[in-house]
Amino acid sequence: MKRIKILQLINSEKVLDDVLIKGWIRTKRDSKNFSFIEINDGSCLKNMQVVVDENLPSYADLKKVTTGSAIAVSGDLVPSKGSGQKWEVLAKSIEIISLAPDTYPLQKKRHSDEFLRSIAHLRPRTNKYGSIFRIRSELSWAVHNYFRERGFRYIHTPIITGSDCEGAGELFRVTTLTPPFPTTPDEKIDFSTDFFGAESNLTVSGQLSAEMFALSLGDVYTFGPTFRAENSNTSRHVAEFWMIEPEMAFCDLIENMDLGEDLIKFLITFVLDNCSQDIDLFARFVDKQLISTLKNIVSSEFERIPYKKAVDILLRSNKSFTYPISHGLDLQSEHERYLAEQFFKKPIVIYDYPKTIKPFYMRMNEDDETVAAMDILVPRIGELIGGSQREERLDVLENRMDLLGLPKESYWWYLDSRRYGSAPHSGFGMGFERLLMLITGVTNIRDVVPFPRTPGNIDF
Ligand code: 4AD
Ligand code: MG
Repeated sequence: MKRIKILQLINSEKVLDDVLIKGWIRTKRDSKNFSFIEINDGSCLKNMQVVVDENLPSYADLKKVTTGSAIAVSGDLVPSKGSGQKWEVLAKSIEIISLAPDTYPLQKKRHSDEFLRSIAHLRPRTNKYGSIFRIRSELSWAVHNYFRERGFRYIHTPIITGSDCEGAGELFRVTTLTPPFPTTPDEKIDFSTDFFGAESNLTVSGQLSAEMFALSLGDVYTFGPTFRAENSNTSRHVAEFWMIEPEMAFCDLIENMDLGEDLIKFLITFVLDNCSQDIDLFARFVDKQLISTLKNIVSSEFERIPYKKAVDILLRSNKSFTYPISHGLDLQSEHERYLAEQFFKKPIVIYDYPKTIKPFYMRMNEDDETVAAMDILVPRIGELIGGSQREERLDVLENRMDLLGLPKESYWWYLDSRRYGSAPHSGFGMGFERLLMLITGVTNIRDVVPFPRTPGNIDF
């Protein structure tokens, strides 16, 4: 008998004889002559109710099965007599695959997110985390579909690299450990060798490599893990996160904003249309306003304002911020959230930032003070996208690198792209986890990553 996923059964149009399902027990309830077992196999949020008649040979064994145990059930799919589900499985035979002892941490009760974080290896077995990670999977596919349908090529940019794209120095160094290894605690490990003699680190962004491919293949994107050695404990930063980074040749800042806005709306719409069962859980238990917030974003036209105006609005507001703001300073998350959440009440695009707070590769504006940067801020999260038009003029770029003290010789390959067939081009990076927070209403980034990497979190 071939195993069938519960997702298929709950969508069945007709009764089915002899189905086989395998999964984990969520709850068990005994009544006179019957036991009712709720099984979940992870294929969807919904459990399948299994009805076990006391005359079944394995009924006695079943008395001892516990929450969390893995079982296989074969039986018939029949209309359910109970309320809450269309179908149930009338068991013909049951095999206990493994019994979970009563130390199983996920007994039926509400668990706090903090507790579940401490058992990140088991939390996908709960409704909430099962839904998060199914949405995360669907959303990944949607990202690829979006770009593929628009003729973008998918580039695998390197994880180990010698460059620091953002220049913020938040790097994890990569070291080659060569034998012989120390045998006593007094002997020191030699960390000086680095990447076979060269300095290297984990990438903070695939952008610089993606630019090379945009200037070759036209429209490209990369979507992969990126790393920041930020020793900070905030609800929207992790040390390892996934970034979606499109990069387009012959594309200016406005077209770049257009793409960012369109991508956000597409991905939200995709999840609302295709993950309604899982999203509904968040709309009921996490954020009652979730669906209307998301629909508002999709139907709104994002406000676009220069950095100067954003700071003026903040200065005129009567809010007392923890970090005071003034012209020339970078926006903190409280400022971003005030602008998107309270002032405009919708996503906003802030552009033309002072050159002093942005990286070397951004295109200098005519005022020589601001660069063609754009960040997209959304309610509840703040910055979701950071991007820019890139500096395509070799002399201007070299000048900027000199002023910032960047070693031009290390960027010889990057500068080559400005020497040979340089062209205007733009791109951005969208934090995949922040997008998931926006879409699910989850407020801590640690809860949308399977195994979050934050200070003190490296066990799993
Ligand atoms: O603004 P960032 O630093 O931009 C770049 O890295 C550019 N090189 C991207 C590009 O133009 N191709 O990061 C982009 C986005 C942020 O807007 C944020 O959503 C997310 O990445 N992000 C983080 N997400 C989680 N944890 C962190 N520590 C993050 N740092 C940035
Ligand atoms: Mg940024």
